[in-house]
Amino acid sequence: MTEKLQIYRCNVCGNVVEVLSESYGELVCCNEAMELIKEKNDDENLNEKHVPVITKNIDGYNVAVGAVLHPMTNEHHICFVQAVSQDKKYVKTKFLSLDDEPEMNLKAKCTSLWARALCNIHGLFKGEYNEF
Ligand SMILES: [Fe+2]
Repeated sequence: MTEKLQIYRCNVCGNVVEVLSESYGELVCCNEAMELIKEKNDDENLNEKHVPVITKNIDGYNVAVGAVLHPMTNEHHICFVQAVSQDKKYVKTKFLSLDDEPEMNLKAKCTSLWARALCNIHGLFKGEYNEF
């Protein structure tokens, strides 16, 4: 059973997929069940550089990966950053290159949203913004 927007990884070949429409089937790659990548938000040793920090600005929001920006090297980098409305109807994903800063801007007028970022070594981290 999958849920919309879950992210799974194949531990054999490294494929990473996101669920766009949920169903009862198990996701399989390379003849093995894919692993659900759970979002972390409370790993004290890694938080500073991984949990997305969402800041409101005049156009919408800025999502920065980490209070201290995460490194962007070939060996250790953020693969993507993604912002999601609370009702999961709207999603914006920025796939990062090594020469990008690990952040993105989005135009939005919502009052709450969450964001997540995938580090190639440390996994998936989630941060939230609630105006009220
Ligand atoms: Fe990392």
